[in-house]
Amino acid sequence: MTRACPEGIHSYISGIGFHVPEKVVTNDDLAAIMDTSDEWIRARTGIRTRRFVADGEGTTDLAVPAVEQALKSALLAVDDIDLIIFATCTPDYYLPGSGCLLQDRMGFREIGALDIRVQCSGFVYGLSIADQYIKTGMYRNILLIGAEVQSTGMNFSDEGRDVSVLFGDGAGAVVVSATDEDRGIMSTHLHSEGKYARELWVESPSTRHNPTISVADLEAGRHRPKMNGREVFRHAVMRFPQSIMEAVEANNLTLEDVSLIVPHQANLRITREVARRLKVPEERVYSNIERYGNTTAASIPIALAEAVSEGRVQPEDHVVLVAFGSGFTWASALIKW
Ligand code: ACO
Repeated sequence: MTRACPEGIHSYISGIGFHVPEKVVTNDDLAAIMDTSDEWIRARTGIRTRRFVADGEGTTDLAVPAVEQALKSALLAVDDIDLIIFATCTPDYYLPGSGCLLQDRMGFREIGALDIRVQCSGFVYGLSIADQYIKTGMYRNILLIGAEVQSTGMNFSDEGRDVSVLFGDGAGAVVVSATDEDRGIMSTHLHSEGKYARELWVESPSTRHNPTISVADLEAGRHRPKMNGREVFRHAVMRFPQSIMEAVEANNLTLEDVSLIVPHQANLRITREVARRLKVPEERVYSNIERYGNTTAASIPIALAEAVSEGRVQPEDHVVLVAFGSGFTWASALIKW
């Protein structure tokens, strides 16, 4: 069904929540199972702890409490939601998507459940999709989740230490709702550059292999994420500032008008370099990577939820969300809170 685009509809974040699993894993815990150290991890990434799921706990299990909080803060019930968008690159199953599992677990109506796989940029991509559906008048309340279980996919041997020390598990959720007021999501900006797809990727399972995954793939570790850390760093410190400026300039604002930048929590060194390049004081760039590590599509909604609960986002503030990740993909959103 298509509808004419009604004038003056904006979308805004009407509710937000997050959830991380109970188990806290310190750098020393990792140093006990691989050749790494608290000092190396803190100096290179800023991470002190991350959360890992318990046995049997999956991506949807983390999403449920985050969604409950988001609905509660939006003062909405399950039946008020018109569409589920679930951003994850670590779904419970290869198919069907985690959005379908969430629909069943929480008893949503028979609404659309759309999984999107845009890795660390997934949440901002999802926000852009939600914004378009609201602005056309098609839906009034959309649930957007970013949730990941990275810990079960990592290689915790010396060979995988460059990647496995970075990531953690968690979930964040927002409700995106329609409003006639001139506020909310002012613009979103999406990008990709697929020639760098293999700089941060998981090769297997793959439809290019028959069968899609084999014992040989498992033995070679092709099911574990591989990363060219230096190349990721080089592109991230270029794309984050570009993407922030794209959002600011599209709204005829300057960086001084932005109260808070909430970047994907990739790595503290990347975030600091972005602040330095833009000459923005670090207090205006939110960071919680110290406690949660990099939670991929969940990192922005978790960071935003904490920023809101700490009172760092106030009505009328301009907030920029910005992401960069595997693909390479990058994206930004400017929100008038
Ligand atoms: N513990 C100890 N040593 C390690 C570890 C570890 N966990 N991982 C790698 N090393 C070793 C390497 O084997 C290498 O050893 P060698 O010199 O003997 O070969 C050495 O450390 C590399 O050290 P540096 O060159 O100092 O590493 P660098 O400064 O490049 O830092 C890092 C590596 C942290 C991965 C960096 O490249 C980086 O920050 N890249 C960005 C990656 C990132 O943040 N990805 C996040 C996911 S993508 C996203 O969310 C956008």
